[in-house]
Amino acid sequence: MRSLENNKNIHMKNIIIYLFFAMLLVAACKEEKKESASLIKEIEIVESKQDSIAYNMLKTKCYICHSITAPSHDNIIAPPFEAVKRRYTMQFKSKEDFVNAVTKWTLNPTKENALMRGAVMQFNVMPKQNFKEEEIRKIASYVYDNKLETPEWFEVHEKEMHDEDGRGRGKGRGMGRKD
Ligand code: HEC
Repeated sequence: MRSLENNKNIHMKNIIIYLFFAMLLVAACKEEKKESASLIKEIEIVESKQDSIAYNMLKTKCYICHSITAPSHDNIIAPPFEAVKRRYTMQFKSKEDFVNAVTKWTLNPTKENALMRGAVMQFNVMPKQNFKEEEIRKIASYVYDNKLETPEWFEVHEKEMHDEDGRGRGKGRGMGRKD
């Protein structure tokens, strides 16, 4: 009788030990989940920080000419960047190709390699500037991933001036302009 009682006690002890480990395991799993959730959050914060750095560079290094606030098409000195994006995504579909093409051209802009012939005729070829490759890559990558701001007149102008395939007709305002 006594040994039966002992056995029961040992049995209970085992169950308690099992339960204890089971609880530990659950707690550990939860902790791990929490950790991976906070890691994801951290990655998101880093990504959005990278994005805002790239956006700032786009604004200070590119939008000064590729203006998004010019009041009309007659006041601009370069096409809005959305026009550049559309032209380049037509030719370079993947992000990698797009970023490579924009970066390569921007580091060494020449008339011969320009895709935006109409723009070159209207504004002359983009002046070569002292950009760092790493910066242009970040800017181009941001441009590919994000919706860009455009001046108010932009969409109307795009419809009026360009063929369905988005290529400039080359005889838009630039050449026929009277002013
Ligand atoms: C000093 C003015 C100026 C600045 C600053 C400038 N651009 Fe331009 N960019 C132009 C002009 C003008 C054109 C249109 C003529 C042409 O295509 O060369 C142009 C056209 C482009 C094109 C289209 C090229 C093609 O194939 O025709 C790309 C790509 C471009 N710019 C990238 C950039 C990037 C990226 C920045 C910022 C890092 C930038 N530009 C800053 C003046 C500028």
